[in-house]
Amino acid sequence: MPLDVSTFDLNRIDARFIENPHPLLHQLRAERPIFRNADGSVYLTRHDDCLKVYQSRDMLSDKTEAFGEKFGQCPLHKHHTTSLIFNDPPYHTVVRKLISGAFTPRKLAEFEPLIEGIVDRLLDRVEDLGTLDLIDDFAKVLPTEIISFMLGIPEEYRARLRGYSLAILGALDPVVPEDRIAEGNRAVEEFGEILGDLIDHRRANPGGAMQGEVLESLIFGEHQGRRLTQDELIQNCIFLLNAGHETTTSLVGNAVGLFLDHPDQHRRLLDDPSLIDTAVEEVLRFDSPLQIGNRLAGEDIVLHDGVLPKGTYIHTSIAAANRDPAVFENPDMFDIARKPNRHIAFITGIHVCLGATLARVEGRIAIGRLVRRFPKIAANGTRQRVPLARFRGWGTLPVTV
Ligand code: HEM
Repeated sequence: MPLDVSTFDLNRIDARFIENPHPLLHQLRAERPIFRNADGSVYLTRHDDCLKVYQSRDMLSDKTEAFGEKFGQCPLHKHHTTSLIFNDPPYHTVVRKLISGAFTPRKLAEFEPLIEGIVDRLLDRVEDLGTLDLIDDFAKVLPTEIISFMLGIPEEYRARLRGYSLAILGALDPVVPEDRIAEGNRAVEEFGEILGDLIDHRRANPGGAMQGEVLESLIFGEHQGRRLTQDELIQNCIFLLNAGHETTTSLVGNAVGLFLDHPDQHRRLLDDPSLIDTAVEEVLRFDSPLQIGNRLAGEDIVLHDGVLPKGTYIHTSIAAANRDPAVFENPDMFDIARKPNRHIAFITGIHVCLGATLARVEGRIAIGRLVRRFPKIAANGTRQRVPLARFRGWGTLPVTV
């Protein structure tokens, strides 16, 4: 049975929606661009409505109440209500200012050769393997390495990081079974302990960091005389790691999946490697790693087709906005040379992705070098999606090179 607007509710989505949400999203945007779910929340699918929500200072990110109802008092609640993404000014401003120090052009310039080195090493391994899972053996390793390096996380812990990340972020899906909440709680606790020890160590040994590590500036940095507390540090480092690797893994995995499905675009990039920058932007638009955002209306907001009153809980469909025919010509066409490309995969406004430049650099280097080195890359069996509505990526992607 095809997905249908008359029976749709964002809180009751199923595997068909996760597999391909776009037929339904097009229908929603055309017929009910301000869609009301049974719980009273709305789901926005127009590009201009999503933009307006993100750009308004009256739209709030604080989720203390919503997460209180969803999780009760538990480690997941503490984590999600302490990380900057789910907070408003003034706390958001302080944490953002302190973390921004880690993403300056100078720091990013330090990372570029590091990223190239890691990618080349991983590609050597890919060549040795010949037959591999593109996610496990390549896409997930790079962002984990980079962010672990930034936070000074030792090698022996790195294998566990993706599991932690999926468990913590998975609990943000609209529908979350009990066992997934328990898994998320365990992940926050275990990961929190590891980070707590690292922070204590760096606090006691300032100046001992390797080039590029940002932990020290997070510990000792000040904004208007305020430093982060131990809890704020731990939870925001957990967040930084989650924000930094699941999404970038998806960017790289989605790119390869799209090239396998669109051999003409794969050929085009091989023929003209200078298209890599627009190709990365098109992957971000076409299969946005983060598909849904949320805000609470702190004041009434006027949208294209109506007014949302103060207190409305809003879901923004980044996925739908990025396929809005009012903004993108042939929105369902994957076109690696698309220009302009006003996608909102990193959103906009005060919470605009802090790691966007880093993610673009990682994407450009990883996808560009992979495609150049293995022009005959081919599918080798069935891929499986990460079974989440909020995050779009491949859980497994078997290939031969
Ligand atoms: C393709 C990769 C990525 C995508 C698609 C992505 C997407 C996003 C989006 C949509 C938001 C806004 C969420 C909201 O407020 O509703 C966000 C926030 C954020 N991202 Fe990214 N991200 C990516 C990679 C990264 C990386 C590599 C890092 C850091 C290492 C990072 C760090 C952050 C941080 C710190 C925030 C919170 C900003 C704030 O609340 O002020 N992201 N990201």
